Amino acid sequence: MNWSETLALRLLHRLEPERAHELTIRALQWGLFPMSRPVTDERLRVDCCGLSFANPLGLAAGFDKNARAAPALFAIGFGFVEVGTVTPLAQPGNPRPRLFRLKEDEAIINRLGFNNEGQAAVLARLRKYARLSGRGVLGVNIGANKNSRDRIADYAQGARCFADVADYLTVNISSPNTPGLRDLQGPEALRRLLAGVKAVVAERGRAALPVFVKIAPDMDDAALAEIVEAAVEGGAAGLIVSNTTIERPESLKSPLRTEAGGLSGLPLFAPSTRMLARAWLLAAGRLRLIGVGGVRDAETAWTKIRAGADLVQVLSAFVYRGPSLVADILSGLLERMERAGYAHVSEAVGTAAEEWAERHAPGQSRTGASVGQSTSRAVAALGNAFYLGDWTKARGGVKRNVITQHQTGSET
Ligand SMILES: Cc1cc2nc3c(=O)[nH]c(=O)nc-3n(C[C@H](O)[C@H](O)[C@H](O)COP(=O)(O)O)c2cc1C
Repeated sequence: MNWSETLALRLLHRLEPERAHELTIRALQWGLFPMSRPVTDERLRVDCCGLSFANPLGLAAGFDKNARAAPALFAIGFGFVEVGTVTPLAQPGNPRPRLFRLKEDEAIINRLGFNNEGQAAVLARLRKYARLSGRGVLGVNIGANKNSRDRIADYAQGARCFADVADYLTVNISSPNTPGLRDLQGPEALRRLLAGVKAVVAERGRAALPVFVKIAPDMDDAALAEIVEAAVEGGAAGLIVSNTTIERPESLKSPLRTEAGGLSGLPLFAPSTRMLARAWLLAAGRLRLIGVGGVRDAETAWTKIRAGADLVQVLSAFVYRGPSLVADILSGLLERMERAGYAHVSEAVGTAAEEWAERHAPGQSRTGASVGQSTSRAVAALGNAFYLGDWTKARGGVKRNVITQHQTGSET
């Protein structure tokens, strides 16, 4: 990190987080960002789902929701950028404050609630980018409006809107900040949703357009297995593992840890990597995987790849570490490949999947069910439940967790 980047980050992190984010997007639009020498190396190129990625590192959805800064983000060196989540109609999201930096934990909690300018505004921008030469792979992450009467239809509408301008689509059914959205992860709902999306892209003459499903880390192994099968049957190209978590690990130090919303960053690394590895084993080559959650340096990116990721995304660490993170990760990946004797990054994919899949994730039993509710975690879970208006489910969840804790007799 050079001095200008250090200074810019220090100044930004003194501001209210959402204000800082808005300023960052504007600075990127105006070309006011520190550049480091881009890392280009054919050993990092990834051919996946009919697309050619200059490198395996992408920016995760949620940073550039309205596709304002995508050209600058490519210039920084990302191999791919996923914009969105975009809903059919513009919506304001939840009341502020709704974005919190947990600095002590290198984490973020957000409960933004799909604030975005809507499909029409984003489509107009993406049409312009289509003419940019040399841009990387551009994904569009689609979602449903909070007040939609037919959420599954919202995804089909997103696919119709972006089929011509996106290199891939992501159906985001895992944001914890839209009440009930995660119900779409149920196998029946997911099959219907994918059928609708695939039919629409075929109608638009883009039947080969890859569709990824972005999933939550808060589910047990049986639910993950059902999602994998539903995704394969529904014709998805792959899974993005994972979105933010509603869990609150014991290790969190920040006083902001009880804020409701989705937690991302370092504390998400272990649970999301374990889930990625399990998904890789379950999919057995039928799906491609994008690993996201807690990537903060070359070592964590390398671990995601070894756990089964063809591609890796980052968001929270980009907020904390700035643009130089991209070159640091890519050059660190090359070093690790050389040390391991690999001629190409793809040789590392899945080499540590078994080891990671067997890990006993903190806060999870061997079967993946949550255990070990301390008072603070229970309070956070209840806060989330009230906030999401899903009291019955949360009460059941807390009861189940407490019972499991009694049964296992230990905090794991
Ligand atoms: C502020 C913020 C906003 C986000 N918004 C979205 C979103 O709109 N759609 C989505 O699919 N994921 C969203 N995410 C989740 C990220 O894409 C990513 O899955 C998660 O943050 C884990 O990666 P990280 O630990 O590198 O941050 C958001 C995350 C953050 C921190």
